[in-house]
Amino acid sequence: MIQEDYRAAIDVGTTKVATVIGRERPDGSVEIAGIGVSPCTGLSKGIVRDDEATTQAIKTSVEEASRQASLPIKSAYVGLSGSHIESHNRWDQVQENSSESVITQDVLDASLSMVRDMACDSDGHLLHVIPRGYALDNRHLVRMPLGMHAREIHAHTHVVKGNEQSISRLRAATEAAGIHVADMIVEPIASAEAALTTTERDDGVVLLDIGGGTTDIAVFVGGQIVHTAVLPVGGWQFTNDLVVAFTASHEEAENVKRSYGSVTPEISSMREELTVETLAEGVDGPIPLTKRELGQILKGRAQELFHLVEGKLATPHLANVPINRVVLTGGGAKMDGMQALARYVFQGRTRIAGPRSLAGLDEQYLDPAYSAGIGMLIWGLRNLPRGSHLGVSTVNGTEIVSGGGRWYDAFTGWRKRGESSSTGKTREGASV
Ligand SMILES: Nc1ncnc2c1ncn2[C@@H]1O[C@H](COP(=O)(O)OP(=O)(O)OP(=O)(O)O)[C@@H](O)[C@H]1O
Ligand SMILES: [Mg+2]
Repeated sequence: MIQEDYRAAIDVGTTKVATVIGRERPDGSVEIAGIGVSPCTGLSKGIVRDDEATTQAIKTSVEEASRQASLPIKSAYVGLSGSHIESHNRWDQVQENSSESVITQDVLDASLSMVRDMACDSDGHLLHVIPRGYALDNRHLVRMPLGMHAREIHAHTHVVKGNEQSISRLRAATEAAGIHVADMIVEPIASAEAALTTTERDDGVVLLDIGGGTTDIAVFVGGQIVHTAVLPVGGWQFTNDLVVAFTASHEEAENVKRSYGSVTPEISSMREELTVETLAEGVDGPIPLTKRELGQILKGRAQELFHLVEGKLATPHLANVPINRVVLTGGGAKMDGMQALARYVFQGRTRIAGPRSLAGLDEQYLDPAYSAGIGMLIWGLRNLPRGSHLGVSTVNGTEIVSGGGRWYDAFTGWRKRGESSSTGKTREGASV
């Protein structure tokens, strides 16, 4: 085995940090070498609020993944969430020559660099510039024009941005754990990578990762990502509704939600009874109620969440886009009745998905809660510059030493030794 091939991805979630180590095999398939999971209390709604708690959870999960894989991790892709994440699609002219010329990888790399420069001009920290296609001489719209000829090229891209402060805080918490942030990958893109099938992406699909503190949204049509967004609502709010309704502890509410909760109370057994331990003064003993009564509270929250999702989808660039499938993932998707309620609200085919099976992936991780971590590793392996995440000497913020006479600048991508850091190229789809 070539150790340099291994990469690490850290999904810093509102309830847990999951670190996934793996590599792409020579046949193109992905192999998992280790996964470490640690509970995390440092985030609220996908954003770091307690630096120390976040750093500690990252450290613990990286150590466990590292131990399982028997590989030292010093650098990783890190997942980014939070409602500050915004996306838009753009068309930019990236080449205008006097005569036709062949389109090479260098031409495409330079095109994306140009789009990045143009996209940097507006507000927010640029996270991803993902090519969707190219128009050649205003005639042909092609997804991959390598080897074709054109005089003029327009690039169609999906651009994702985030808030500088939230990004810096996550970066700092990760680096305090001794891990260099090789790249940040937004969580909706990561989850989609693990949970969606090619057919779903081609036909048009909305991916919803319902986590602890956020619901990540990614929309694909014609095999391309067309929309990315994050809502600051997740499983925590469902639990909190029970805390408020029964004056219960968070722990009791979480247990009751997971054991008896449903968002389709009309089809769950009406008569099944349960009790909730309450902290309310003057109440003697636990509160008795039926599963239906519990479900009515949770259903209200789920309906509101799905309506917020509809609001995020009501954007001009999704008008006239045919989408009739919804795929639910994330721990919150495991709530009883979620699939049925989503089918009713969105009036389309729905499915609950976990990450697809991979070599070396233990069955317990085929769980919707791990889609983001596993998808992040796969997306990074397939779309980001090649650079080992192992055995890097120290974390110094920008320059990381690697083999092959090249070094990786976290902000501008790969360069040759001696090259300046003011401009740079990344591979197609690379985050910046
Ligand atoms: N069986 C279940 N029924 C209902 N909810 C569940 C169940 N299992 C897990 N959850 C909920 O899933 C949520 C955690 O999901 P997940 O692990 O995907 O979140 P996260 O990645 O830590 O957070 P985020 O992505 O929002 O930052 C919690 O709110 C938890 O209550
Ligand atoms: Mg998550």
